[in-house]
Amino acid sequence: MAPPPPDTSKIDRYNSYIRRVNTAKIMAASSKLLFRATLLTTLVLILIFTLNYPPLGAGRSHSSSSSSHRSLISTTLYGDENSGAAWEKQVRNSAAPRRSRGMSVLVTGAAGFVGTHCSLALKKRGDGVVGLDNFNSYYDPSLKRDRQGLLARHEIFVVDGDINDGPLLVKLFDVAAFTHVLHLAAQAGVRYAMKNPQSYVASNIAGLVNLFEVAGKLVNPQPAIVWASSSSVYGLNTENPFSEADRTDQPASLYAATKKAGEEIAHTYNHIYGLSITGLRFFTVYGPWGRPDMAYFSFTKDILNGKPITVFQGQDGVEVARDFTFVDDVVKGCLGALDTAERSTGSGGKKRGPAQLRVYNLGNTSPVPVTRLVSILEGLLGVKAKKNVVKMPRNGDVPFTHANVTLAAHDFGYRPTTDLSAGLRKFVKWYVGYYGIKAPAKAGGSKQ
Ligand SMILES: NC(=O)c1ccc[n+]([C@@H]2O[C@H](COP(=O)([O-])OP(=O)(O)OC[C@H]3O[C@@H](n4cnc5c(N)ncnc54)[C@H](O)[C@@H]3O)[C@@H](O)[C@H]2O)c1
Ligand SMILES: *[C@@H]1O[C@H](CO)[C@@H](O)[C@H](O)[C@H]1NC(C)=O
Repeated sequence: MAPPPPDTSKIDRYNSYIRRVNTAKIMAASSKLLFRATLLTTLVLILIFTLNYPPLGAGRSHSSSSSSHRSLISTTLYGDENSGAAWEKQVRNSAAPRRSRGMSVLVTGAAGFVGTHCSLALKKRGDGVVGLDNFNSYYDPSLKRDRQGLLARHEIFVVDGDINDGPLLVKLFDVAAFTHVLHLAAQAGVRYAMKNPQSYVASNIAGLVNLFEVAGKLVNPQPAIVWASSSSVYGLNTENPFSEADRTDQPASLYAATKKAGEEIAHTYNHIYGLSITGLRFFTVYGPWGRPDMAYFSFTKDILNGKPITVFQGQDGVEVARDFTFVDDVVKGCLGALDTAERSTGSGGKKRGPAQLRVYNLGNTSPVPVTRLVSILEGLLGVKAKKNVVKMPRNGDVPFTHANVTLAAHDFGYRPTTDLSAGLRKFVKWYVGYYGIKAPAKAGGSKQ
């Protein structure tokens, strides 16, 4: 018996069912693929933008983040101010040492307070210096522009750019073979971290990593790096004086935490890529061309304007005191650290041997109560301060700092020589000159 003919209509229906299922599967698969591709593209775009467009690296300023944005667009589409033959010539000239075996130093944060003084000192002794600064408006950028003008008069070129701009850093190293980086660019200030925490992450962490990435992996030969950490890493440490071996795992502010993170990140890049890295823990640096957000500066301004100043008192009636360090002493420490920095040992992204990793205190070794700071200023300005004494809020400031500088003294002869009244006298002289104050200042007439 012949088998019954197959029910073709059933088979047809089955086949069309299978086709529909398959089409649906393909649709689902391709839309999944499309979805993944879109996601990937978005992620890549976000990555490119965050790398090139640090939105918060510039303190509270809108202008600087929009200028970074501009620089992304202009570099990719039109070419920008940081390129071209004339620009490269400026970089090369500025980077060239004028003494035999002089170093060539890239100074980040060069339009800043400490950066300006270090750049001048390096240039003066015949080293090559190129500055890099994003001129953010954390404090009055016109003061930064005036420092840039001062540097320009000493033939030091300061590039307008951000440490988060990897391609710019690579280009700088292409144009000039920097032997050293003095990395001072950062978001400074303790209390501002409560207002704009992301600016600390952007400059002190992301920016530091970007610099180490470029210096450790992309640049050949690698430079040696000296960078500014801070005495604030000692945080709630109760040892007195503060020594490098004391614990630094109790930061009292986000600023301190980002500096401490920087010290650990330095360890990593030293360990993996053979970068020679020296961290310097500055203790309350002050002096001419100083930072308007610091107490000695704003006290001077307010005392001259007859405005009351707020003086903090420690929580348990203890006097708030700082190991104020005059900027010229800190500069000597920075140069000493640069002079004793050994070469990095890596190349092509690989370590070839152990490299130097150091941390030093740079302080004055003599804490002064803030009330004494005020009375010195009163004397120099010839004006009595209106004091508003309040308990120090627990928002980041520590009551007391005191540096043990034995290590820096031993390794590069660091010896601070300026006491607070001598240093403030120089500061006040600069202040009244810079701001054109005809006040009864007693500092101006004295010989320096
Ligand atoms: N002055 C002090 O008492 C003191 C104490 C401890 C540590 N420090 C550290 O020393 C270094 C120098 O301090 P300063 O007092 O000269 O401060 P500063 O603010 O005057 O100088 C820092 C400079 O870096 C620039 N900058 C910030 N973020 C940048 C970025 N992402 N890209 C490029 N440039 C950027 C700023 O525009 C500024 O000109 C900082 O790292 C600071 O944290 C200072
Ligand atoms: C200062 O630091 C050195 C190490 O650098 C240490 O040997 C010395 O004991 C410290 N001095 C004080 C008083 O803490």
